[in-house]
Amino acid sequence: GKVAVLMGGKSAEREISLMSGQAVLQGLLRAGVDAMGIDVDADLYDQLRALKIDRVFNMLHGRGGEDGTIQGFLETLGIPYTGSGVLASALAMDKMKTKLIWQSLGLPTPKSEFLTDGTNWTALAEDLGELVVKPSHEGSSIGMSMVSDANALEQAYLKARAFDTAVMAEQRIFGKEFTVPVINGEVYPAIQLHTSHEFYDFDAKYKANDTQYLCPAPLSATKAAELSALCMAAFDALGACGWGRVDVMQDKQERFWLLELNTVPGMTDHSLVPMSAAAKGISFEELVVNILQSSCD
Ligand code: DAL
Ligand code: MG
Repeated sequence: GKVAVLMGGKSAEREISLMSGQAVLQGLLRAGVDAMGIDVDADLYDQLRALKIDRVFNMLHGRGGEDGTIQGFLETLGIPYTGSGVLASALAMDKMKTKLIWQSLGLPTPKSEFLTDGTNWTALAEDLGELVVKPSHEGSSIGMSMVSDANALEQAYLKARAFDTAVMAEQRIFGKEFTVPVINGEVYPAIQLHTSHEFYDFDAKYKANDTQYLCPAPLSATKAAELSALCMAAFDALGACGWGRVDVMQDKQERFWLLELNTVPGMTDHSLVPMSAAAKGISFEELVVNILQSSCD
């Protein structure tokens, strides 16, 4: 059947989605799939009907595409799509709700709080120590700040607030940063990220040429197994399906802390899921066909 790769849209990650979507589209075409790209706008319904689309490869990042809304729309139209369904997509787009579920199952995730105009910055800094301030429903580190001083908290809050009505502060974990794809029920090799930036921010993700990716990550067999099991549990806890990527920190005591699940991970030429697949001997073309076939319908 005919496949539409949905990309672009209106989220703050629009440009990344266009890059991810183009890469996936080209990969599907090279694999012989009858695919086309659609930049999502108000006419999506008409376009899907006019083009007689049988299946969607959803490459939309962020709100309006990764958060359950497009998923519900496609369910209503009866068009199968890649990745998680409505509930898991909505939960994973909300970092605070995600943490509530993980905490309720005893899965480790850093302490966090919502920030509001009325937050007492000094008390918060005393309670949580050094902090990461971020919009609760954003991706690609957009609107995020590392804060080590209570005086800088309000400015970090306002920066995040420009992107989202919900802003959170999370206890900052110092140590190593990992990301782990889960695809078709299988945990793929973990990648350890090394950046010269203060953290793996937007530029380190998509622009810097000195970001180092260690894959498979240099972990002992025991720690690698622990990380895999944790990521699988984190994915399952949210009821995610098809594919996703779990972001994790490891503190100086070698304990792992879950940060978030991305249900539509980046697929650009700097992105992590293709890198992990390559370490497993899976080409980009095989990867996109695997994801396409993993639709949870
Ligand atoms: N939100 C970006 C696209 C990622 O997780 O890869
Ligand atoms: Mg994310």
